[in-house]
Amino acid sequence: MGGNAVVSRIWKGVLEVKHTLIDHSIGHEVARFETTPSLPPILADNHGRQFPYLRLSITDICNFSCDYCLPDGYKPSFKKTFLELHEIKNLVAAFAALGTHKIRLTGGEPTLRKDFIEIVQTISAEQNITKLAMTTNGYKLKKNIQKWHEAGINALNVSIDTLDAERFHKLTGHDRLPEILDGIDEAFDVGFNSIKINAVLLKGINDDQLEQFMAMVKHKPISIRYIELMQTGDNLDYFNRYHVAASGLQNKLLAQGWVAKPRASDAGPAIELSHPDYLGSIGFIAPYSKDFCTNCNRLRITSLGALRLCLFGNQGVSLRHLLQHADQQDELKALIEQQLNFKASSHFLALGDTGSTANLSTIGG
Ligand code: 5AD
Ligand code: SF4
Repeated sequence: MGGNAVVSRIWKGVLEVKHTLIDHSIGHEVARFETTPSLPPILADNHGRQFPYLRLSITDICNFSCDYCLPDGYKPSFKKTFLELHEIKNLVAAFAALGTHKIRLTGGEPTLRKDFIEIVQTISAEQNITKLAMTTNGYKLKKNIQKWHEAGINALNVSIDTLDAERFHKLTGHDRLPEILDGIDEAFDVGFNSIKINAVLLKGINDDQLEQFMAMVKHKPISIRYIELMQTGDNLDYFNRYHVAASGLQNKLLAQGWVAKPRASDAGPAIELSHPDYLGSIGFIAPYSKDFCTNCNRLRITSLGALRLCLFGNQGVSLRHLLQHADQQDELKALIEQQLNFKASSHFLALGDTGSTANLSTIGG
């Protein structure tokens, strides 16, 4: 005689089922199978790409004025109401049900939202979201990172384009490099075990600072991401003057024994290099490279609740009318799935087509 006892539990949305086959004639367990049925199928498009990763902008407002993004600072163009907490909750629930497991909060500067902590807590409470990241300019990082971490942030990107305090001041309008670097140390102290730093690659501003960035990753698990400057609707002159291809720095590193790491399944389009003598890594995001779009795994939501299929696409369909009530989830999911059919295989940046993006403060890069 035998019996099959089934015990199950839900952990972060994963149903774990434990089967215990008991042979009563000998009175003890003879077989055990553990199955973990997979998470919801991940959203996919017509080009075979999957989208486990959503970048969610929660405000356009930024207090920095980086020359390539908001050279004159943020100027509200019309009265906008950024996504509210209940809308964010409904949005995240739908994406989580469609297989999203990583969300990055971005802006503008996302931490300028007065309800930032509540937003983080709300998203973090969603069972299927296992990675909740944020991109910040580092403003008040030292003071707040513990609170943000406790609320649920478990991955951190800080934008630091140059490690020269004077150049940093000139570029961003804020003389805050030392305190931002202190903030990064604090983040390690409160429990982050790796931190990413975004540096937009700029000719004459930071393309001569590879040694400083290498020194930064020597003993710390920091991953530097050089991002090639992208042309947006607003920055053509700046782009022509400061754009430099990432390949120069990449080749320098390769010549010094750095090697490309295998790509994690939820990693973005970055190429990441490591070196046995360095704890951290250095990566490159080169949107003008030919394979950039092949590895695209992210969708974007603007701070006003539009789904942007591509950073540089013109299509942006508003989801906002379906974010108002929890009982609109089916309609919302259907609209998202339907929109994915329109995701293009590639952007057309190389042809100078920047789509409708005036600057990246509206969708956070
Ligand atoms: N090109 C490349 N990166 C940009 N960012 C903002 N504007 C641009 C641009 N034109 C970056 C920010 C930040 C990230 C969110 O996007 O510096 O690191
Ligand atoms: Fe700089 Fe980012 Fe603010 Fe733009 S949004 S001004 S890139 S800190």
